[in-house]
Amino acid sequence: MKKISKAVFPVGGMGTRFLPATKSIPKELLPIIDKPLIQYAVEEAIDAGIETLIFITSASKHAISDHFDPMPDLRAKFVAENKHHLVEKLDTLPLEIQRVFIPQGQPLGLGHAVLQAKPLIEENEMFAVILADDFIQANNNPLRRLLTLAEQQGAATISVEAVEPERISSYGVIAPDAWHDDYAQVNAIIEKPAVVDAPSEYGVIGRYVLPYSVFAALNQVTMDQNNEIQLTDALKVLIDQSGLQAVKLLGQRFDCGSQDGFVMANLHVAMQDETLLRKIKDYLSKWE
Ligand code: G1P
Repeated sequence: MKKISKAVFPVGGMGTRFLPATKSIPKELLPIIDKPLIQYAVEEAIDAGIETLIFITSASKHAISDHFDPMPDLRAKFVAENKHHLVEKLDTLPLEIQRVFIPQGQPLGLGHAVLQAKPLIEENEMFAVILADDFIQANNNPLRRLLTLAEQQGAATISVEAVEPERISSYGVIAPDAWHDDYAQVNAIIEKPAVVDAPSEYGVIGRYVLPYSVFAALNQVTMDQNNEIQLTDALKVLIDQSGLQAVKLLGQRFDCGSQDGFVMANLHVAMQDETLLRKIKDYLSKWE
């Protein structure tokens, strides 16, 4: 099998939970302190060995392309002024990494977004899908674990995490077979079930490694009641065809598609900096 070297970033969502900020700024550019969510996601992909980034965009998302563009004039100014810490911050993408932008055209869901990448994937190739608003802090690169397992087994592989019952209806939820260390075969998957219908506590989080056959599966599934093509429905087809495996995430994840997750992610990163930690503690002490 070909080495997995491409990652798809669906970034066409409307970000309605962050309006009015997302009127002109894609939600993937919202920063955790000073670095946008999409850059964290891209760094995770590159660190895991990904060489081609495929962004599935919608109109008004040019800012994501701009973010990864070189700024030679400003860079030269910082170099001349010996401001190397600023030069580092400007270098948002290594030059050897290829990036491609594909317009989604219509907002028809995550499955539809992934389908747009088909012309760029070869038939014997697996590829990663990364949802940048699932912000992950981990000692070991979570995508790399997925890629290793997918390459070993040659099967679709997804990341899951135990989710509290009150949130389970916001996730795709799996019915796992027996766990072997951190992974299990998936027997069934349901998109956003009511808590009583959830087959386990394990919700799918935004890291997937998929085979080319997912495109045929996506073409085969019908739209849901919201006129969206769900990636989960295509994963159901893969379970029957070639299998699906799930890996438990080792690390901390923040759902930055929600306001509380976004605020907590900012706090989490801020509190890793001694000065900011001191200031936050000092500020919070006034609330007791
Ligand atoms: C999507 C998927 C869902 C998954 C989630 C992870 O939902 O449809 O299966 O659990 O991402 O973030 P969304 O958050 O786009 O509604």
